[in-house]
Amino acid sequence: MAKVYVFDHPLIQHKLTYIRDINTGTKEFRELVDEVATLMAFEITRDMPLEDIEIETPVCKTKSKVLSGKKIGLVPILRAGIGMVDGVLKLMPAAKVGHVGLYRDPETLKPVEYYVKLPTDVEERDFIVVDPMLATGGSAIDAIHALKKRGAKHIKFMCLIAAPEGVEAVKAEHPDVDIYIAAMDEKLNDHGYIVPGLGDAGDRLFGTK
Ligand code: PRP
Ligand code: URA
Repeated sequence: MAKVYVFDHPLIQHKLTYIRDINTGTKEFRELVDEVATLMAFEITRDMPLEDIEIETPVCKTKSKVLSGKKIGLVPILRAGIGMVDGVLKLMPAAKVGHVGLYRDPETLKPVEYYVKLPTDVEERDFIVVDPMLATGGSAIDAIHALKKRGAKHIKFMCLIAAPEGVEAVKAEHPDVDIYIAAMDEKLNDHGYIVPGLGDAGDRLFGTK
């Protein structure tokens, strides 16, 4: 069964407050999303495997740990997921980046896929799918299906803000995918927006309306 991790780190919660604030402009919004993505990436990599290598310190020879070379694939859901990419890459510079393009139809709230491009060695990589918002869950569910259809075996999903409805929907459809959230909000409104949320993540990130 999927595990759900809600990060309660004070730095993440502090920055999230200013991300939510309607008075935060595009430049600061973008910087804060980037910073929170880095902090979340630190937490999400806790279970990365290590191996011993032999090194020599100025004092003696010793064994010490390094990451055991798991290949990572980072996949933002376009558009808003792009805002989290650089922040994660700061901690995982060797990760390859795929893209899944989806937009949510404003009438039906169903995601429409328009672009998928993944690294060629999909089966060998551990994937982290990123998107600031998990609302109805439709976009996350379809993005994860797009990866699985192309051979991905290990997938984590990471977002800033989630609605309980979306989390339950992803868990039901993808019980093998762990979900990492900076904050679990109250509910969705009649337009499928997260309450209190942060508004439209793509518009706030890119300054569109
Ligand atoms: C937003 C957000 C998610 C999706 C979440 O994208 O970035 O991808 O909505 O909603 P859901 O959980 O109900 O599917 P949007 O469709 O607005 O596209 P955009 O990033 O291009 O603005
Ligand atoms: N997409 C967003 O950008 N914000 C929401 O609150 C819900 C979906």
